Amino acid sequence: MKAMVYRRYGGPEVLELAELPRPRTHVDSVLVRVRAAALNPADLALQRGALDGAVDTYFPVIPGWDVAGVVEDAGPAATEFSPGDEVIGYVRGDVQRAHGGLAELVSADVRTLVRKPRTMSFAEAAGLPLAGLTAHRAVVRALRVRPGETLLVHGAAGGVGSLAAQMGRARGAQVVGTASPRDHDHLRSLGVLPVAYGDGVAQRVLDLVPAGADAVLDTAGGGTLVSAAGTVRPGGRVASVAETGLPGVIPVFCRLDGDDLEAVAELADTGKLRVRVGATFPLERAADAQRVLAAGGTRGKVVVTVGD
Ligand SMILES: NC(=O)c1ccc[n+]([C@@H]2O[C@H](COP(=O)([O-])OP(=O)(O)OC[C@H]3O[C@@H](n4cnc5c(N)ncnc54)[C@H](OP(=O)(O)O)[C@@H]3O)[C@@H](O)[C@H]2O)c1
Repeated sequence: MKAMVYRRYGGPEVLELAELPRPRTHVDSVLVRVRAAALNPADLALQRGALDGAVDTYFPVIPGWDVAGVVEDAGPAATEFSPGDEVIGYVRGDVQRAHGGLAELVSADVRTLVRKPRTMSFAEAAGLPLAGLTAHRAVVRALRVRPGETLLVHGAAGGVGSLAAQMGRARGAQVVGTASPRDHDHLRSLGVLPVAYGDGVAQRVLDLVPAGADAVLDTAGGGTLVSAAGTVRPGGRVASVAETGLPGVIPVFCRLDGDDLEAVAELADTGKLRVRVGATFPLERAADAQRVLAAGGTRGKVVVTVGD
């Protein structure tokens, strides 16, 4: 099978096209023909070796944890799926190796997969697993957003932030989202009240929510919560996926949980979650896709499409 691999740490330039053996299917795994793989900031960090002290790496590595595709084969214990089923998956392994989404095929543990929402294209659905699991963990499990509350999402136009904002709306909350003005129409289309980030953000939020938000989720990092101090009501909850170690802030990490992934896919199937695709690239041009992600400013997920 064709795959994009890297054989040493580095930027997009270390990615190369390779011909690798077809993955075998374990008894409880599913062979997925990848149709789309979404990129995430973590891919770039891992590839440049920023997590070398935390994750064992065996070169060559096929990057990419988010996939959408079609089941080609299912092991005898993977009875949930049959050839032809359309699925999405979070295919992160415990080690970095020649196993990932930027390939024609990936062998995935059955617990990492759920059915693809029928409402979404492969490219859109590929944007759901990592960002959706993270957003679900933040909005539902950490912040426990309730109907009638106000949720403030920093970075509400981003991969995680846009899903978190929509999850807040689906739970009956009023959602205020910080984003660049060029994303404000998009946020309005999601039912989110937009606020420009940058100098004066705290006052702009308080103009909309004078008592402060009941819950705040930071997906932007870089001191955003400090700049926006005073925008949470006394006793409110604050979580961050982008910064750790801040007093009173619940750190949230993506975690594979089949029930959570199922909940994310179901919400998408009911039309309550949309994924905006900002750019697509064929597998052979995955390095360009990484360059675009690294440059920032894309309006939506950067997705690598595989096959026709
Ligand atoms: N803890 C975890 O397990 C976990 C999981 C997933 C992601 N993350 C982290 O969470 C962050 C977001 O990930 P993502 O995939 O959502 O990235 P993304 O798609 O690039 O989204 C980031 C968004 O933040 C916006 N932004 C930048 N500076 C901002 C500011 N000062 N205030 C408000 N918004 C701002 C960006 O807008 P512009 O385009 O206008 O710059 C962009 O829309 C990354 O740092 C990522 O590494 C952590």
